[in-house]
Amino acid sequence: MTGPLALEITDAADDVGVRPRQPGEAGSFLDEDEAEQGPRRSPPCTLVIFGGGGDLTRRLLVPAVYNLVGAGLLDEGFKVVAVDWADIDTAALRQQFEETMRLFVAQRRAAAAELNEENWSWLSQRVSYLRGSFEDPETYRNLSACCGEGNCVFYLAVAARFFAPIVGQLEAGGLTRETEGQYRRVVVEKPFGNDLASARALNEKLLSSLQESQIYRIDHYLGKETVQNILALRFSNGFFEPVWNRQNIDHIQITAAETVGVEKRGRFYETTGALRDMVPNHIMQLLSMVAMEAPISFDADAVRDEKSKVLAAIHRLAPEDIVRGQYEGGSIAGRAMAGYRQEPDVAIDSRTETFVAMKLMIDNWRWAGVPFYIRTGKRLTTRKTEIAIHFKQAPYALFRETPVEKLTPNIMVLQIQPSEGVTMQFSAKMPGPTVKLGGVRMKFDYADWFQEGPSTGYETLIYDCLIGDATLFQRADNIEAGWSVVQPAVDAWSGGDGELHFYPAGRAGPDAADELLARDGRHWLRLNG
Ligand code: BG6
Repeated sequence: MTGPLALEITDAADDVGVRPRQPGEAGSFLDEDEAEQGPRRSPPCTLVIFGGGGDLTRRLLVPAVYNLVGAGLLDEGFKVVAVDWADIDTAALRQQFEETMRLFVAQRRAAAAELNEENWSWLSQRVSYLRGSFEDPETYRNLSACCGEGNCVFYLAVAARFFAPIVGQLEAGGLTRETEGQYRRVVVEKPFGNDLASARALNEKLLSSLQESQIYRIDHYLGKETVQNILALRFSNGFFEPVWNRQNIDHIQITAAETVGVEKRGRFYETTGALRDMVPNHIMQLLSMVAMEAPISFDADAVRDEKSKVLAAIHRLAPEDIVRGQYEGGSIAGRAMAGYRQEPDVAIDSRTETFVAMKLMIDNWRWAGVPFYIRTGKRLTTRKTEIAIHFKQAPYALFRETPVEKLTPNIMVLQIQPSEGVTMQFSAKMPGPTVKLGGVRMKFDYADWFQEGPSTGYETLIYDCLIGDATLFQRADNIEAGWSVVQPAVDAWSGGDGELHFYPAGRAGPDAADELLARDGRHWLRLNG
């Protein structure tokens, strides 16, 4: 097992105030024990990327692999074969990758803001291009020649309609067959199905060609450091778990707010919407990390069992507990924004939601009676993904003239992006001769403490796949559990039910989302607070 979930503790925090790593330090995403022992390199492997000429590969996968080179985690026998149908050759592809890489490193916050030529050349000379159609057996014969008998990871960075055909062709071409000491793995990107039935059908299809242990279903949220940190925070510290329950927690808010609109993805988004795009996958991952029971170990299956269990305990969604919205024209940071219906490839009378809020209840011993409020949307006030744990109020106020309801609520916010860290909000006595309470915040900031350069979030995921650690990937039942939660809404909306509430671009969502919480005497944390 690798990285944060391995919970290999450094003693960095013993001496509070001393930063464990300095900018530009080699092996920045290894912990110190690993740095001392030397990195655990992945076994030799060919990474075959279907969609190797595409956006995802250029913007995220190649920079992630480059970072793995820098961390010394790749074996000499590592290589990349990019498969795509564009009429280019290996030299042109390497050139394209290099241009994107230079842009990527230019955005670094850390000192080393230039491409490391040695690392880049190590990687670049291992990249080759294979031109071919994903549905043509000839492509797979050529691929077989490139791969030989060694380990292979087949990464499907392609539109979802190609997932099943590619896997079928890989099997037909004998490329999925594993032999003693040699692996064949397939990484499947999102969207994994469009509803519960199609997700089940895709699982069946993949499982007819592959073993479950060969399938790595990606949810890129699990590549985010702060998402992985939720488990570390909960299960490696003594003081959180004892209060992590219905006796102490009033409710939990999960927010994934974006300022971007649908950009050029109107056609995709029209048939997807905010619910399918974000909730069964990303939001359910966040929810299960926060709400799951402690696994018996950090083995992939132990963690994934607990995630499925907590999702299975969610009450069936009631229509009154879900709000959907769509952005109209408005402005964000002084810039005018068009409404969703004016976006390219979007119907002028579209009823697709760009915002969704819901209240979920979890039917288990730990969480009975604790609402989980969720909201996600596009073209909102600000970009922010966070989980806010609202603790119950102190039972009574010791301080004269401070009614309980005036005490600062105790909130612990797990900030996932754009800033990454943990904030605690509580009451403290204000300085001065009279006793007055004020709200204060204590903050742990990832960037300040660890001084990391930018990562894409895919480093851990790719490395884990190379070494065969599936903890951060979804099993078939995890995917289906996520879809089961939202399926009642998918059904209701496809039948035309469900009011659509409009909100101007640049707001925190429609009023109906506020009413969802007001009904329970609560309110959302401010988005731009
Ligand atoms: C993707 C969705 O899975 O996640 C996008 O399809 C969304 O619509 C994106 O913008 C959000 O990811 P992140 O990492 O920017 O929060």
